Amino acid sequence: MEKFIKEIPKAELHLHIEGTFEPKLMFDIAKRNGIEIPFASVEEIEKAYQFDCLQDFLDIYYQGAGVLLHEQDFYDLCFSYLTKCAEQNIRHTEIMFDPQTHTERGVPFSVVIKGIHRACEDAEKKWGISSLLIMSYLRHLSEEDAFTTLKQSLPFKELITAVGLDSSEKGNPPSKFKNVFKASVNEGYIPLAHAGEEGDADYIWEALDILKIKRIDHGNNSMQDENLIATIVEKDIALTVCPLSNQALQVVPNLSTHPLKKMMDLGIKVTVNSDDPAYFGGQVNQNYIEIQKALDLTKKDIYELAKNSFEYSLASDDLKEIYLSELERFYLKNL
Ligand code: HPA
Ligand code: ZN
Repeated sequence: MEKFIKEIPKAELHLHIEGTFEPKLMFDIAKRNGIEIPFASVEEIEKAYQFDCLQDFLDIYYQGAGVLLHEQDFYDLCFSYLTKCAEQNIRHTEIMFDPQTHTERGVPFSVVIKGIHRACEDAEKKWGISSLLIMSYLRHLSEEDAFTTLKQSLPFKELITAVGLDSSEKGNPPSKFKNVFKASVNEGYIPLAHAGEEGDADYIWEALDILKIKRIDHGNNSMQDENLIATIVEKDIALTVCPLSNQALQVVPNLSTHPLKKMMDLGIKVTVNSDDPAYFGGQVNQNYIEIQKALDLTKKDIYELAKNSFEYSLASDDLKEIYLSELERFYLKNL
């Protein structure tokens, strides 16, 4: 089963590039940029990664991202993640980045996106991995601030496929970003959002009804509301589920109580993703491996999850067809 999981072609649809920042790379970049971090060693950084909730994690995550200054830093961060994609048979990835985490510190938008984009181009040339970018607004900041970010993004519009909404969920409902999402859609960005990770089902309703999102990041708390489940199924909206993240942030007590299989049985289109792999104890394959064990998933379930990852990606139909036929061949050979 582990071999099957590692080898099956897959896409990753929920990944924060700042959350791929491995302690070793963070340490190296901090050193070369002459930035002091409150840790004496890689081991100390790793020890700090114990979280009770989303906010505990975010405090450390923003602190870590604070050492990123130059285009090369963003390139190195992103290329390091894409190297792991190649090792895990990830054929396609949709990378979220948080411009405000960097522009707030005086790092220009252009520096962030150019570094990330160049890494994506190189990974495509080197391994044939396709990728696209999701610009995420930080929901703990104001809508006006998000509008500033939208404006900054316009010269780079061709490099960005979608907008997302992340950071501290409770107290920052999707409706707070109604106008900026509307403006983003007018610019051609596809609307996505984190919803129902810590926020209740009503946040998911708002994300669907007000922001008109095409995919739900997390969506765990959709399980609170039967009407919402029916709507998600009817609208054919996929969930990007992140098992190890949910465990680390105590969204679920442990993986054996995770609703992923229940969601699949209800007809919800679920995908498996790593969210912030450097912080939550595993890349995509580890997420598949651990949730498979915890819920006793079959090869067919794993195949369905991988299939959803391509079908509900934002890749072109041509690319989807190529990946799905490769997946089909793999499945028939490895049944
Ligand atoms: N939730 C909200 N914001 C985030 C996350 C998450 O899981 N990861 C990075 N920013
Ligand atoms: Zn996330």
